[in-house]
This record gives sequence, C-alpha cells and structure tokens, in this order.
Amino acid sequence: MSKIERIGVLTSGGDAPGMNAAIRAVVRCAVFHGIEVSGVFQGYDGLISGDLKRLHARSVAKILGRGGTILKSARCEEFFEAAGRSKAAAVLREAKVDALVVIGGNGTFTGAQKLAEEHGVKVVGIPGTIDNDLAGTDYTIGYDTATNTVVEAVDKIRDTASSHNRLFFVEVMGRDSGYIALKTAIATGAIAVMTPEAGMDIDDLIDILARGEESNKTSSIVIVAEGDTNGGAMEIAAKVHSRYNKYDTRVTVLGHIQRGGDPSCFDRVLASRLGVGAVEALISGQSNVMAGLVNDEVIYTPFMEAINRKSKGLDEELRVAQILSI
Ligand code: F6P
Repeated sequence: MSKIERIGVLTSGGDAPGMNAAIRAVVRCAVFHGIEVSGVFQGYDGLISGDLKRLHARSVAKILGRGGTILKSARCEEFFEAAGRSKAAAVLREAKVDALVVIGGNGTFTGAQKLAEEHGVKVVGIPGTIDNDLAGTDYTIGYDTATNTVVEAVDKIRDTASSHNRLFFVEVMGRDSGYIALKTAIATGAIAVMTPEAGMDIDDLIDILARGEESNKTSSIVIVAEGDTNGGAMEIAAKVHSRYNKYDTRVTVLGHIQRGGDPSCFDRVLASRLGVGAVEALISGQSNVMAGLVNDEVIYTPFMEAINRKSKGLDEELRVAQILSI
C-alpha cells in the first residue's frame, strides 16, 4: 500500500448544513496524520479546471457551525462525460494529490465511482445531502437540520391554519425521495403525507381529508414531497380543491430555506465523525466507499450500494404517520 501524502477534498451537488463541519474534520484529521490537503473549489467543476488551494488546520477555523460550504458546490455536467473525468484525473496527477474525499449525494458518488474505476483514483465519500436518500448510513449530513427547519416553519403555518380553519399543503424538498416529508409529517402531526415512495393517489387523499372533517378536524396540514408523482403542492391542492372544497385552502412551498442555516448539534457531530472516518479509511487503503453511520458506528459501504436508496425503507414510519393522523 503506497503512503498517502496529499489528499483533495470537495463538496458537490446540493449544499447541506454540516458540509463545513465535514470539511473541517477532513482537513484537521489529515493534518493530524501528517497529510497535506488541497481544497477543491466548485465541486467537480473545480476539479476539471484545477481550482485547488492548500488548506491548513487554521484555514478551517470557525466554520464548524456555519451553513453552506466554504468550498462552494456545483452540479457538474462535464463530469458525467468520460472526457471530463480524464481532465480531472490529469489535474490530480499534476497537483500530486494521491486521494480524494468527496462530500455529497447520489450524483457525487456516481461520478466518484467512475473516476476511481477509470483512473485508479482513491476516493472515499461522505454523505452530505438534506435528502437522506443514501443506503449505508442511518442519516446523511444536513437532514437533521433541514427537518428541524421544516418543523419550525410548519409549526408557524399550523398557528395560522387553525386560526382560519384552513387546509394547508406544504411542499418540502426531495426530488426523488420522501424522507424529509415523512419525518416532518410525523413531527408536525400532518393529516397526510404525499411521497414518491408511498404513491398515494388523489382519491385516497380526499378520503383522508373527508374522514378528518367528519371527526371534527377544523384545519389540517398535508405535507407534499416535491417529487410526488401527483405533482407538487400547487398541483395537488388544485386537484383536491376541484373535487373537495370543504376547506379554504392555501399552499406553501418551503424551497431552499431548507438547505440553509447553521447545522444542528447532531449534524455537526455526524459530519465530524464521518470526516475523520473518511480520512482514516483512505489511510488504511480503502477506496470506492462511503463512510456512514449505522447504529452509531462508522461503517463503509461501496458507492454502488450507497446510491441504492431503495434499501432504506419508509414503511414503518409511514404506518406511524397514518395511525397518529386519525
Ligand atoms: O439534493 C438536494 C436537493 O435539495 C433536493 O431535495 C432538491 O430537489 C434539489 O436539491 C434542488 O436542487 P437545486 O438547488 O439544484 O435546484
């Protein structure tokens, strides 16, 4: 096993609260073990264009509790192409970077896997996405903070909904997944939750709303994952309203507010543990894996398995949400 002398670190895809804590942990753990660190700016875009800068222990001071990512992030089309990845590998050789830590989600790890396979680059991933849609970790960095942001917002919406006897449709993030929606539906006592996984149709939703009204609910909240197959919250509200209009209806789309803000204690600790875990995995010769936390233990899962989010079920939580919303 050849000794690692310099690693690169980047953030890619949608930013998530706690990414800075992960960057800090990667840099400080590497320095602790006598390894140099190059920060790669703008995700894979910066890897292709050579936007690298040396980072020291003090370069990452006072970022632990800050949202966003000091390295910036991007969704890089060019990295989906083999030619883009060849340019990136050349940049790494030129900068004498022996290994890479990538912080991101599905798209980030798909690219990392290809870079490792095609160019023999050693890569370890850290799950950084508010969506929590990766296998091999109970939680992704940013999910806890984002769900707390949603809960705070929905609690406020609840006050005005009950004052006016209104039905609110609240759209939360999750283009392909309903983890944010389901978790926050339980935490806010929503009457129903619409997710791409559960596949509930409009008739079922109207039945639930009618039952709620019959049992004297004067106002209600429906949480909608943006990726629901019936459409977004606007569309679903319009479909419901055209057939069932017992309530005055309003829609709130929470949007990117969910990605910002200072990371929670949970996300800071998760990011710190996984940052250390990722660097130590590279030192021990691992590659092509994501560091994750399962049952409070840091474990490593091949990228190919990690991006298969289907292995992380939602059924039990959905059942809890349904029982408690009567
Ligand atoms: O991947 C995280 C995420 O926030 C998704 O939940 C959301 O669908 C998407 O990013 C939005 O991406 P963008 O900021 O590029 O529009």
